[in-house]
Amino acid sequence: MSTASAQRFLTGITTTGTPHLGNFVGSIRPSVAASRLPGVESFYFLADYHALIKCDEPARIQRSTLEIAASWLAAGLDPERATFYRQSDIPEIPEFTWLLTCVTGKGVLNRAHAYKAAIDKNEAAGTDPDADVTAGLFMYPVLMGADILMFKANKVPVGRDQIQHIEMARDMAQRFNHLYGKHLVLPEAVIEESVALLPGLDGRKMSKSYDNTIPLFTPREQLRKLIAGIVTDSRAPGEAKEVEGSALFQIYQAFASAPETAALRQAYAEGIAWGDAKQLLFERIDREVAPLRERYHELINDPAKIEALLQAGAQKARSVATPFMGELRQAVGLRNLDSLSAAPRTIKAAKIEAPIFKQYREKDGKFYFKLLNAEARLVLQSQGFDSPKDAAFTISMLQKEGAAALPALEGKVARAQGTSASELDTALAFFTLLA
Ligand code: TRP
Repeated sequence: MSTASAQRFLTGITTTGTPHLGNFVGSIRPSVAASRLPGVESFYFLADYHALIKCDEPARIQRSTLEIAASWLAAGLDPERATFYRQSDIPEIPEFTWLLTCVTGKGVLNRAHAYKAAIDKNEAAGTDPDADVTAGLFMYPVLMGADILMFKANKVPVGRDQIQHIEMARDMAQRFNHLYGKHLVLPEAVIEESVALLPGLDGRKMSKSYDNTIPLFTPREQLRKLIAGIVTDSRAPGEAKEVEGSALFQIYQAFASAPETAALRQAYAEGIAWGDAKQLLFERIDREVAPLRERYHELINDPAKIEALLQAGAQKARSVATPFMGELRQAVGLRNLDSLSAAPRTIKAAKIEAPIFKQYREKDGKFYFKLLNAEARLVLQSQGFDSPKDAAFTISMLQKEGAAALPALEGKVARAQGTSASELDTALAFFTLLA
């Protein structure tokens, strides 16, 4: 289904946690919707190499990989349409990371927000600026650049905090293309402007680092309990309530239709009790999530099925990555040497024999060469040189000037016994004609 005008969307999900409502509203739901649009090709992957940067608990990375894959599939991602894979199943990605590492300025990486924040924190604490900062954190943007550029992504849906990384990927692509020819496509970040950041239980952005999340597929009763814990102000039932700054209202809005949202706004003005508003929110979310939750649990109980889907996805992804990596290796000069022997081979195939200089070293430690003519007969012999450079220089004189160089080289080279002057001239002329 790939057409020249197709837009390719690509995004990665770091496998360190369990998906929550904020992930659903901000990433899973819009990305799944985009993957169904005509003219869109989507590449969505589990960024487990990135997970290693923040997490050293193997079981958690494995569990998160399962949960995130099951969540996206339960939310309606069609792995036949989209290319859905696990980053670490694509060996071309770390390979490409190295090529990009070599075109990325260290100073650029010094300025990456996540790395800078870690350094600033250490400096503020008066410790070594690099304390507990791994090279992985420093290299994070390059690995991400490889993720994106490997698949020639046009659009990369991400959160605001990732915009700088997309800009860095563009810079890497530009620099690579400048040095090696136009191989890479410059990506653009896509920010879901319409979706306000989903607030969490405490009213701050819903995020695992604030421990204020509502897991996407938490059981129904647990969902009810968590929603009951969303912060509200202390206004009593019957008192009019503000929608501005109300986390409850904002979460509702992310799930409800425009008329439903208008109705809740009205209920706020009329003094709905917080308990009743929470019940409305619970029912609204559960209505959307319940059918997905059921599919999620089926999937999570069948890891082998998910593994098979990811393997099929990896195969699809590698059908793009493997040949492209071959092109990139060729571009930078990581090449098979066979291409260099193409010319002599043709000569041999045509059975045209040529004279040849052969360099070698003798037991006396000195460097010698000899010239064999087209019939492989010795026609010129050198004396010993102290260095291979001297020998090579003498050969190059003979190759450039032919027999004309001989008088100046007296004592250094001698015509072989049984070789006529004209036989030697003929052999040397082969090289002067080429020069
Ligand atoms: N760094 C991204 C995040 O934390 C995850 C990610 C890794 C990613 N590779 C990517 C996102 C490539 C988009 C494209 O959200």
